[in-house]
Amino acid sequence: MSLLQKNVSLKSLHTFGTDVSARYYAQVAHVEDLLDLLSNYPAEAEDILVLGGGSNLLFTRDYEGLVIHPSMLGKEVVRETDQHVFVRASAAEDWDGLVAWSVSKGYGGLENLSLIPGRVGASVVQNIGAYGVEVADVVDRVEAVSLQTGEQVIFRNEECTFAYRDSYFKHQGRDSYMITSVLYKLTKEPVLCLEYSDLSAAMESCPQADIAAVRRAVIDIRKKKLPDPAEVGNAGSFFKNPVVPKVLYDRIKDEFPDLPGHRVSADMVKIPAAWLIQQCGWKGKRVGDAGVYPHQPLVLVNYGHASGKEIFDLSQRIMWSVESEFGVTLDTEVNVF
Ligand code: EPU
Repeated sequence: MSLLQKNVSLKSLHTFGTDVSARYYAQVAHVEDLLDLLSNYPAEAEDILVLGGGSNLLFTRDYEGLVIHPSMLGKEVVRETDQHVFVRASAAEDWDGLVAWSVSKGYGGLENLSLIPGRVGASVVQNIGAYGVEVADVVDRVEAVSLQTGEQVIFRNEECTFAYRDSYFKHQGRDSYMITSVLYKLTKEPVLCLEYSDLSAAMESCPQADIAAVRRAVIDIRKKKLPDPAEVGNAGSFFKNPVVPKVLYDRIKDEFPDLPGHRVSADMVKIPAAWLIQQCGWKGKRVGDAGVYPHQPLVLVNYGHASGKEIFDLSQRIMWSVESEFGVTLDTEVNVF
């Protein structure tokens, strides 16, 4: 039976929940399915998009190419040393399910990344990060299949060129590979990462400081600040926090002494985009069903029937405001199609 379907709705397959469809769509459970698909898919479907949990993208129109939706599941310890366990998880595993499982086994490294929506495959594309930890810190290798040749390829951590919410798979490797699994190097003797102030404050009142407590605290913080995509359509942070030259940071700070900032190198400073967006008056604003989340203006939301184009237009207006008010260019974290 052919895996390929035509004109498939993507509404329930991405967390903004906008009403769009894919011209061609195939769910892929095995590498063999992918090889079969690649040798048979229609020539007119030039573009290929590998769709994970759909929690970091915005469709502004129907997708005219082929959407490949990996569905391979499984997670297991494949190797152990005195101090580490190597866990292989398949690409379609739910991210937070993997975190819950590793915490329940006492394996440290993922607990700060609790409750992030999405799947294992996307965790490395996006280099997901929260509360002082990035997935790049614990990835050993990424296993993928080339969409051009069907060849199986392994990327060691250093070959993934991980950076802030960024990796090889977002640029040169974009839409060229289907990630099949990720090998994580977790620790048997967890060292807690509590550098993020909200998290260390929450942990102070906690009788036993272990990875399970960190997971609970992170879940509490996220639930207070971030909308649940099951209730309100959103894709987490829509923008990245901009990294600007220190001279620009100092110039803005002269005028706005409460400007927060975090030095990332001798001459560059990371500024919270939420602060810039709030300052421009966008916090809690709503244009039709597209809106700026009232508790975290870095997040754009779909209150019901917003189209992708309306959410995109709102993001553009916010970017123009921030640019003209502060001379800072925001970059989207979400992939826009
Ligand atoms: N802020 C405001 N107004 C607000 C909210 C925040 O001015 O209404 C300012 C404050 O100065 C605050 C600062 O923004 O101190 C930082 O806010 P927060 O700690 O909530 O985190 P963030 O920088 O906005 C980043 C990630 C989140 C991640 C948190 C925690 C990015 C783009 N976002 O947000 O990631 O959960 O840190 O580590 O780096 C995601 O990627 O989807 C995501 C949610």
